[in-house]
Amino acid sequence: MDYTKREVSEYGSARIVNCLPEIGIDTVVEEIVEGLSCRPKRLSSKYFYDKEGSVLFERITALEEYYPSRTEKAILRDLPLCSLTDCAELDIIELGSGDHSKITLLLEKIPNDRLSGMRYVAVDISRPALDASIRELTCLFPGLQISGIVGDYFQQMHLVTGARQKLYCFLGSTIGNLDRDDAMVFVRNLGETMSSGDSFLIGFDRIKDTEILERAYNDDGGVTARFNKNILNVVNRLIDADFDPDDFEHRAFYNQEERRIEMHLMAIEDMRVKTPYVKDDLFLRKGEMIHTENSHKFDEVDIAQIADRAGLSVDRIISDENMWFSLVQYMKG
Ligand code: AVJ
Repeated sequence: MDYTKREVSEYGSARIVNCLPEIGIDTVVEEIVEGLSCRPKRLSSKYFYDKEGSVLFERITALEEYYPSRTEKAILRDLPLCSLTDCAELDIIELGSGDHSKITLLLEKIPNDRLSGMRYVAVDISRPALDASIRELTCLFPGLQISGIVGDYFQQMHLVTGARQKLYCFLGSTIGNLDRDDAMVFVRNLGETMSSGDSFLIGFDRIKDTEILERAYNDDGGVTARFNKNILNVVNRLIDADFDPDDFEHRAFYNQEERRIEMHLMAIEDMRVKTPYVKDDLFLRKGEMIHTENSHKFDEVDIAQIADRAGLSVDRIISDENMWFSLVQYMKG
């Protein structure tokens, strides 16, 4: 995650611009230090995704225990395209694109001659993930105009411009990382920039048995634990700190009341962590937790409420037969 250099890279005609410097390292340092100074301590889950974190997340998506990715992909595979991409000129904008596997399933449904009138814009905080996926996509879909924005889509949606009809995609239930109110605001804000006929495709992980949910975030191979601890390596680089990830234990559990999986890192012993941005070091007591992620789960009422608040309509909800995951297409009327 590079918040200082506005680099541009190119793969054939595809351009990737790092827009993180627009946010600036100062803001990031401030946010991280503030989170580590409150009680309970917390870190934003966007800091999981450096190169190592993106690779670990991709490994999570292949785990037997982690049902969301494969379930969503099965839905995408069966998705009838219909009106979604009917128009001749369309911009497909994917927020948090990660690897290219999800969008590939969607793009494969569009005939080649139509693809050549379309543009695909990927927005992701992880430059390595974006580089790799855009390189692949330029090979898979040579007719498509492709570009990438390394950025934080919660703060930087103004970077996506243009007057063509738009299909926004926010897949993988990444929306679950936001607090419920923030999710409403996020969809409403994006809804306000949408024009009549534009749509917004969002993947939602559904409420289900606690046992299934908790297993998905506590895999036997410990990949999720490594993913969770890796956030400390990212934090070490961003605020020049000396966290030892091995001084922490991975904790993930379902919070019934909030209807979300919470991930935390628990300090195994008392410790002192140095960073030049905190005067007298950071102290953690044995057993103290750092809250690293929320992953909210949704039902149909939530899905309708999000539309309501955003002034959008629910065009369709497509779920797997277990109702474990839903793809929802919101439309601007
Ligand atoms: C990428 C946010 C959808 O919340 O399930 C996976 C991240 N964290 N295992 C999720 C994650 C732990 C994932 N999202």
